[in-house]
Amino acid sequence: MCSAILSRRRLLTGSASLAAAFGVGEIASYWPEQALGHGVNALTGPALPQFRANAETAPALAERFPWVQYGEATSHKLQIANAFKPGIGFESAPTEGRLGEREFTIGSRAVIPWAPMFERPSVIFRANRELQSLAGVEQLFIKDEGSDLVAIYGNKVRKYEFLLPNLHYSGVRKIYSHGAYGSNHCAHLALTGRFAEFHSGPRSEGMDVVLNLYPQAITENVVTKLRLLSATGVTLNFMQGDAVVGVSIKMLSLMNQTTKRSAEGYIDPGGSSPLSVLGHVEAAMELAQQIESGSCELNRYPDYVFLPIGTGGTAMGLALGFYLLGWPTRVVVTCSQDKSSLAKLVVNGDIGAPFDIAHACHLLEESLPWARKLGLVEDDITPAKILKGRLFYDNETWLPAYGKMNKRVAERAGLANDLGLVLDGTFSAKAFDTLGSFAERGLLKNKRILFWNTYQRFPFETILPQDDAWAKYLPEDVQSRLFT
Ligand SMILES: Cc1ncc(COP(=O)(O)O)c(C=O)c1O
Repeated sequence: MCSAILSRRRLLTGSASLAAAFGVGEIASYWPEQALGHGVNALTGPALPQFRANAETAPALAERFPWVQYGEATSHKLQIANAFKPGIGFESAPTEGRLGEREFTIGSRAVIPWAPMFERPSVIFRANRELQSLAGVEQLFIKDEGSDLVAIYGNKVRKYEFLLPNLHYSGVRKIYSHGAYGSNHCAHLALTGRFAEFHSGPRSEGMDVVLNLYPQAITENVVTKLRLLSATGVTLNFMQGDAVVGVSIKMLSLMNQTTKRSAEGYIDPGGSSPLSVLGHVEAAMELAQQIESGSCELNRYPDYVFLPIGTGGTAMGLALGFYLLGWPTRVVVTCSQDKSSLAKLVVNGDIGAPFDIAHACHLLEESLPWARKLGLVEDDITPAKILKGRLFYDNETWLPAYGKMNKRVAERAGLANDLGLVLDGTFSAKAFDTLGSFAERGLLKNKRILFWNTYQRFPFETILPQDDAWAKYLPEDVQSRLFT
């Protein structure tokens, strides 16, 4: 399936500019720097509960593949170094590659920086009897990528741990990205980019962040995310229309084509890029460490892992990781949306496959050069070889819309929430429902199931100012969309 998707995509990737011709969208309004320093809402780094950087943390990848760690002997082309280690010399190292995907030449080695920004490992626990019975399975385990206590944590941050130091050491001090109003990526990029530590240099104000946002179904969670964005002081642009957004993504991503130092850079929607897929290869190795060390109740590889898919970085990283581990684990993803044929054509070059799936397959193909250079896979390994018999998808449960749950999903998520499993309505609730549907169809009997809960449930309301002053800075049409 994958190779067919990929070859069609290549034929059609020149078609991005067509979007403009068909486009019925607009950049609805512009909210520049008014929010910066807005006294009522300004959030500051010290106010954020977060993990302190540790120069000694080694990637879990290095336990299984010791040669990937900078300083170890290797005959492969690339190694990974903890970005907090002083004295490595990333700042002045010659670099190769496009912005955000750079290798740094340190001595005789090519090296990529990695900045662990939250405490490892995230917890695995066995679901209690009630939750197992809600899901309809006997052996349900949860990999909990959320924290009640720490704001900068989990799914999105795993991607930034590779991306942000890579951009920083290429000179980037201002980053641009895109996402829906309630995008977890935008919220976490704002927090991480501005307030987290991701390099060994002096602690400064962090990156400037510019986010281009587009509408989605409005929920309480979406409003909280916008409040959070306002409080971080990032710059927000509001746009609408698939074609306008698509062209804007293509245009801004061009800034990463440079091979020189640059003060500005782009991060793809969802934080997924060829390099950041390594964040979830690393997560798969962390899971293996937990299982093999006996530190969790899951004592063998899971037969199935259920998780949501958006831009695909999480699922592709895990699938590649399970492949490297030699596990027969099946990865079942729940799509978060599908798109018009035009958008599929423009973005994926493929109108036959679900949007999220074609996008993810292409991402995995682009990530493989990293895995090859690290000596993790041979040259002839393709996405099709990795995903065949391993990746399964559900492209129905996301309906009626991105960010909106159908009645069954909402009920199941509500019950799960009462049993202590906190899910979000755009991604994880839908994946949990897919798990339940698989069980109802008798597919999970006697299987070890791992639900990969990607949702970072930190209660952001508790650190945000409680007044509504922030909302008056929004463009009027956005206000009316939010509050009617
Ligand atoms: C909670 C949650 N789960 C899953 C995803 C999808 O992850 P990916 O974009 O890596 O497919 C997202 C993306 O924003 C998310 O916020």
